[in-house]
Amino acid sequence: MQQTMKKPQAVSQGDYQAFQQFLIDACGIVLGEGKEYLISSRLGGLMRHYDVPTLSHLLEQLRTGRNPRLKTAVVDAMTTNETYWFRDMPHFRLLQNRILPERLGRPGQRVRIWSAACSSGQEPYNISMIVQDFDKSNPGKGANNVEIVATDISNHVLEQARRGVYFGVAASRGLSPEQCDRYFHRKGDTLEVLPEIRRRVSFRGLNLTRGYELMGRFDVIFCRNVLIYFSNTQKQDILVRMSRILNPGGYLLLGSTESLSGYTDRFEMVSESGGIIYRLKNG
Ligand SMILES: C[S@@+](CC[C@H](N)C(=O)[O-])C[C@H]1O[C@@H](n2cnc3c(N)ncnc32)[C@H](O)[C@@H]1O
Repeated sequence: MQQTMKKPQAVSQGDYQAFQQFLIDACGIVLGEGKEYLISSRLGGLMRHYDVPTLSHLLEQLRTGRNPRLKTAVVDAMTTNETYWFRDMPHFRLLQNRILPERLGRPGQRVRIWSAACSSGQEPYNISMIVQDFDKSNPGKGANNVEIVATDISNHVLEQARRGVYFGVAASRGLSPEQCDRYFHRKGDTLEVLPEIRRRVSFRGLNLTRGYELMGRFDVIFCRNVLIYFSNTQKQDILVRMSRILNPGGYLLLGSTESLSGYTDRFEMVSESGGIIYRLKNG
């Protein structure tokens, strides 16, 4: 019987490089040099669970592809899921004051918004909260025609997101007491997203490095704080493919430390209300 890995073991350079390549192929994430410690900190528990003693053995199992659940679990464990409520607030102000009035300005208009790396759900629920507020201050302007599609590669965070129940730091980070009362049911220490906020949002698994054919077209794409993990070639490929499924004049929102510069010229920059967003150019 194989001995279970009890403590971090030295990782050979060859195995580390093979693991870096596995991650790029599986999900686009580039694991930089000198990050060997992440192997034990993020994969240690999983390797014990699957009784895999070393990285070499793990790579061997991943190569055979006999256990797809192991591959999914490894990718899941290597994703960074940090998020919080109303992250980059200027984006939500721009959604409320510019994007929604513009996109809902046409009668009968359906507006589709994609939260493309939604993590545990804070981002798509925040979008829905803003739509709710917009509806209250602009009754009859069509906020009922807004659909929010939220995707992520990690099953683990998608499960949390679908539940819509938050506690501890996840329940408090970024929220004022007034927002807690307005958008959630409070049950003891937990906050449960109100049904009228949830019903606009649907969650599904999606790897951004694969095709978007089944996604349909969108008016707005939130792709925030995920491209930083990818190579420049991968970023460019994703951005160009996103531009192809945006409706004319549609908007792309990136994280506050990310930019389009050098990747595509299909967008014009809009800088307003302290935030920067990108609008698809005509033609
Ligand atoms: C740091 S979180 C960002 C969450 C949110 N967008 C925000 O700005 O707060 C990055 C998310 O990207 C997801 N992710 C990483 N690689 C991905 C891929 N190839 N396809 C889809 N999602 C991916 C991770 O699972 C993680 O939940």
